[in-house]
Amino acid sequence: MSKNVLLSDAQQAQLLQAARDAQTRAYAPYSQFRVGAAVLDEQGRIHAGCNVENAAYPEGVCAEAGALSAMVLAGGSQARALVVVGSGAALVTPCGGCRQKLREFGAPDTPVLVADRQQLRARFTLSELLPDSFGPDHLKP
Ligand code: THU
Repeated sequence: MSKNVLLSDAQQAQLLQAARDAQTRAYAPYSQFRVGAAVLDEQGRIHAGCNVENAAYPEGVCAEAGALSAMVLAGGSQARALVVVGSGAALVTPCGGCRQKLREFGAPDTPVLVADRQQLRARFTLSELLPDSFGPDHLKP
């Protein structure tokens, strides 16, 4: 088992592979910055996404958003872990908008792993990336 009891070594390896495979599918002709993501759902299934840019730049979609959409489409309702794979010297952590998107389906201790094609580079929890966050509970009467 890995240090994080929420995610087994096997699940982590599968998530990493899925995110790396997704990165190769990225459509990033404008930034050339390819990102892949994979999310583990409450049924143990993995859903992947890649960034999909657009000539109308703001219409581009992040890899994490694609992975979460795939999870919802497949009937998943909880994100148990997320892996993001990017390239370059700086850590490719999820953007602010994607942190909030993950917040909808995750929990404070949901692991968010950051990797590149060679190695796992960092491990966060969702609450570390998005502290004191707003979520579905706030809308309950
Ligand atoms: N991008 C992602 O897909 N995920 C991230 O976590 C960071 C940024 C994408 C958006 C855009 O297509 C490109 O990377 C450059 O910002």
